Amino acid sequence: MKSLDQLLTESPARIDAAPDLEALASLESELVGKKSIIASTRRGLGQLPQEERPVVGARLHEVQGRLQKLLESRRTVLERLAEDRLLEQDRVDVTLEGIKPPIGMHHVLTQTVDEIVDIFTGLGYKVASGPEVELAWYNFDALNTPPTHPSRLESDTLYVDYGEPSDEMLLRTHTSPMQARYMEQNEPPVYIVVPGRTFRADALDPTHSPVFYQIEGLAVDENITFGDLKGTLAHFAREFFGADQKIRLLPHFFPFTEPSAEMHVSCFACDGSGCRVCSGSGWIELMGCGMVDPNVFDAVGYDHEKLSGFAFGMGAERLAMVRHGINHIKHFYENDVRVLRQFT
Ligand code: DAH
Repeated sequence: MKSLDQLLTESPARIDAAPDLEALASLESELVGKKSIIASTRRGLGQLPQEERPVVGARLHEVQGRLQKLLESRRTVLERLAEDRLLEQDRVDVTLEGIKPPIGMHHVLTQTVDEIVDIFTGLGYKVASGPEVELAWYNFDALNTPPTHPSRLESDTLYVDYGEPSDEMLLRTHTSPMQARYMEQNEPPVYIVVPGRTFRADALDPTHSPVFYQIEGLAVDENITFGDLKGTLAHFAREFFGADQKIRLLPHFFPFTEPSAEMHVSCFACDGSGCRVCSGSGWIELMGCGMVDPNVFDAVGYDHEKLSGFAFGMGAERLAMVRHGINHIKHFYENDVRVLRQFT
């Protein structure tokens, strides 16, 4: 009876102090489990004198009941605490800033090509594209370039497969072959721009790369004049470089245009007085152009009596370099993000 009394005085404080459910469970087995004083006392009841049994039995029952009640209420408290802790751990703070994914951007060359193409689609031009591995026929012959032309030499052109002059396969040296391909497949009128990769047997230097990008333009219709070419390129120069830019067209030669011209834009950096950007001349050479040679129309089955047209071709790297003051073509191909990030 004494140890039962003691149990009842000592236990409540211990139960209250159980820090978690695990501690409470082991305390429970100690206090009311099989090896507890309560259990051993119950097992010893039979050895007690007959008249003491009910008294001790009742006391046992009472002590056990009170301990179990205390254990139960402590369990309820601990369970709630455990649940609160879990909820706290799992809480989502919807006000936290999210993790920002790094935002990419288009390569400066892609930006340049897209912008140039947009200027012409704004005038109603369509965008066409064609093969980078090309037949010599489209790259040269259909463009009125004779078999003896120096640009066909291996020192200029990268060949993929040799054969009869027109059957040779090469990496296209310009986007002009798409003029012939497009006219062959489509009825006039034609208003197209052709952005694409081009290849030449050039070593890398500040202004040359064996791979580079061109944007070709072709307009074929009835009554197209040199004035239309000039007006179109003047519009392009103003859109790309600024509203105050002027252009000039100097006589030149290309096999596929007659007359041919080299198009210059007034220097946007010094407005014509001469500076480093324009090498002191006040003008910057931008592209080749001219009126489509009748021989090209003949090669693709267009009627050169009824139709006329103009064409132009520009280098995307050159335009990007001029505009952004980039001094070496390698910067487009090294893909150093510290360089590329400057052109957002
Ligand atoms: N294809 C010429 C080149 O790569 C550029 C060019 C000049 C294209 C005159 C044209 C043009 O369409 O009319 O140097």
